[in-house]
Amino acid sequence: MAKLKARYVCQACGSVQPRWQGQCPDCAEWNTLIQESAAPTVFSQKHDLSTGGRAVELVGLDAEVALPTRVSTGIAEFDRAVGGGIVPGSAMLLAGDPGIGKSTLLLQVAAAVAAAGKGAVYVSGEEAVDQVRLRALRLGLGAAPVRLASVTSVRDILTTLQGESPPALLVIDSVQTMHSDLIEGAPGTVSQVRASAQELIRFAKERGTALILVGHVTKDGSIAGPRVLEHMVDAVLGFEGERSHQYRILRAVKNRFGGTDEIGVFAMEGAGLAEVPNPSALFLTRRDDPVSGTAIFPALEGTRPVLVEIQALTVRLASGATPRRSAVGWDSSRLAMLLAVLEARCGVSFASAEVYLNVAGGYKLQDPAADLAVAAALVSALCERPVPAEAVVLGEVALSGEVRQAAHTQLRLKEAAKLGFEEAWVPGGVEASGIRVARFAQLRGLVEKVTGR
Ligand code: TYD
Ligand code: MG
Repeated sequence: MAKLKARYVCQACGSVQPRWQGQCPDCAEWNTLIQESAAPTVFSQKHDLSTGGRAVELVGLDAEVALPTRVSTGIAEFDRAVGGGIVPGSAMLLAGDPGIGKSTLLLQVAAAVAAAGKGAVYVSGEEAVDQVRLRALRLGLGAAPVRLASVTSVRDILTTLQGESPPALLVIDSVQTMHSDLIEGAPGTVSQVRASAQELIRFAKERGTALILVGHVTKDGSIAGPRVLEHMVDAVLGFEGERSHQYRILRAVKNRFGGTDEIGVFAMEGAGLAEVPNPSALFLTRRDDPVSGTAIFPALEGTRPVLVEIQALTVRLASGATPRRSAVGWDSSRLAMLLAVLEARCGVSFASAEVYLNVAGGYKLQDPAADLAVAAALVSALCERPVPAEAVVLGEVALSGEVRQAAHTQLRLKEAAKLGFEEAWVPGGVEASGIRVARFAQLRGLVEKVTGR
């Protein structure tokens, strides 16, 4: 037998190196290479097509398709995020920071599926059965017919499920604790995670069970070690939120069976995760007296409007010191860009001020349509002139200082009007009914409006 050559697998990106190094040459992570033994691969062989292979039928794109039947979990926000329910025989990865609520969410999902008589198995590799039951009791799910096990051996799990009719849902919490005896290595290493996932996914496909794997995310946001898993599963769901805040957003990052533009919104409460069917005013602090440095932006999550408050603070500095710029919930290079446009096109200088920007409620904004609202908050903070409390601000700012229209402007303005906002500060050309509009073709116009000059 050929001697097994040692190889070193990066636990962050999965790349394989012939020798150990302190830093992975592919992803530049430090101390991520771990020795894993490899089966020798044979590259020189060519297929003998006279035996073994099987010709497959090639079908046209226009052939009759059977849409995947979906099983509703009974938790509408979860169903919405995954595209309308779980698909039998599919595999999903639920990724998120430790402590964000993944186990809680999936226990609730399993309980809802089981309560509907569809059969749900919850395997925890992290907690003892009693711990899971205690949590279920606290969540008021003590009577749900979920079947629990605390196991880490994939072989034991498959042996257990082999002889019975397959459950509609199998939850594995977490894939990083699973161990497959088909290969060597400690649980949590890339090859173990990959092998365990592979076995479980094969079971799911063969038996028509929907499989949900929990995956912890590492500090840099990659799905712990095994980014490899993202390719193996049908859908990757991210569970996001700030641990110090109540709100959690479930978002499909990849979905072979549906779109990735819908989210599920939950609030972490004393008795678990509560669904938030109408999240539009979630991140809003309503006050009667306007304060300077805040602007309301009508954000969009999938097709759902969410109004968020953008807060800016500027602190005058003694000349000479390098001023700080800090952004929470907003891209800091985009902040730098807006500060530069404000200075170059509108003559508003932040050179002698520290700038802090925050999106309220732990919400993370990525939409460039928030530019105008961010600019309004910044100018308002610097000049200590509040933006009216009844106004929402919406539009993208170009480097030239021009203000451009954002996607779905009408939908956002409609929601703002519904929530009692009376005025919208928007790019030129926007028409709206039910809300007063102030239009700005140039960022300069917005600056004049805020400063009253
Ligand atoms: P958990 O589901 O264990 O997180 P994960 O599996 O992602 O690591 O939940 C973590 C936190 O949620 C825990 O610190 C406490 C909080 N929590 C509540 O606030 N209310 C509840 O009803 C439950 C079960 C948990
Ligand atoms: Mg957990």
